[in-house]
Amino acid sequence: MKRVGIIGIGEYLPKRILTNQDLEKMVDTSDEWIATRTGIKERHIVSNGEATASMAEKAARHALEDAKIKALDIDLIIVATITPDMPFPSVASIIQHNLGARHAACFDISAACAGFVYALSIAQQFIACGTYKFALVVGAETLSAVTDWEDRNTCVLFGDGAGAAVLSEVSSGGILSAYLGCDGSRTDLLYIPAGGSRNPASKYTVETRQHYIKMQGNELFKIAVKTMTEAAEIVLKQAGLRFSDVDLIIPHQANARIILAVGKKLGIDEDKIFLNIEKHGNISSASTITALCEAVKGGRIKKGDIILLDAFGAGLVWGACVIKW
Ligand code: UT7
Repeated sequence: MKRVGIIGIGEYLPKRILTNQDLEKMVDTSDEWIATRTGIKERHIVSNGEATASMAEKAARHALEDAKIKALDIDLIIVATITPDMPFPSVASIIQHNLGARHAACFDISAACAGFVYALSIAQQFIACGTYKFALVVGAETLSAVTDWEDRNTCVLFGDGAGAAVLSEVSSGGILSAYLGCDGSRTDLLYIPAGGSRNPASKYTVETRQHYIKMQGNELFKIAVKTMTEAAEIVLKQAGLRFSDVDLIIPHQANARIILAVGKKLGIDEDKIFLNIEKHGNISSASTITALCEAVKGGRIKKGDIILLDAFGAGLVWGACVIKW
């Protein structure tokens, strides 16, 4: 099996920013409640006809530039998203055409907030066994399109954005281990009731607001802390490492309190935990990859560092990954 690593990364966040103060004018909430309960101060929201594929494409272009490869070199595109432009075709197909990556096989995956870690692990297999040379993995979401802007329980949490990574064989470091999991018994905790084959769109589903995210935050909070802690322990053990070996944890950014609780359970210093939720909110599958981009850009990661990605989301799904940068 070949050793596989990330050779280029990129992100795109829409220019428009929605602050907690803006939300105070929309629902019965306060900057103080949002900031102390979640750590979020603002989030990026699409405008001017932007949607998931257009953001995914922009992030992908940055990643290709960073990797110094051409679109025609890509053999595989996987887009992790729960907010594709439309049910089909895939966002991956749309960006294949727009990028000019016509040699690439393309598909989307749905693994919610663990989507990027899932997609990374899938792409790793294709390269490790020699099927493909270069893979483009994207996490992209337009959660603002499925957010109920009248529901204060959820509308303060989510944002839009995209991140991308190019994977290929590397001579040292790279992805040391990955671990994916799911508990399908609690799909009721976070979901969109209508718009699929079970409850197709109708006047009734629109009037009863069933096309928006429904969430039982309290219950999810506890499961997220437990699951992300366990996933981090398992994936690190698989890599033959200890927590003292980890230079930076990049967790899914759903809630700063969840992240800090996981860090505390693992006995990890807060300065080794990357947080960017304040400026982005929860961008589901785009969360860990945009955080990785910003950690690199901000000089928080240097060559040889051990990075731990750790994510949890609707499904319920979780995934963790250890990378030697
Ligand atoms: O992305 C992966 C999956 N998602 C998650 O893992 C999210 C996990 N859950 C969370 O992050 C938190 O549970 C939330 C941020 C969603 C909620 O925080 P909480 O501390 O669990 O609050 P709560 O749901 O227990 O609500 C506490 C109170 C309630 O009022 P009462 O019933 O105590 O009077 C809510 O109605 O806060 C109220 N509340 C709000 N107040 C002001 C809920 N949303 C708001 C709001 N502004 N936006």
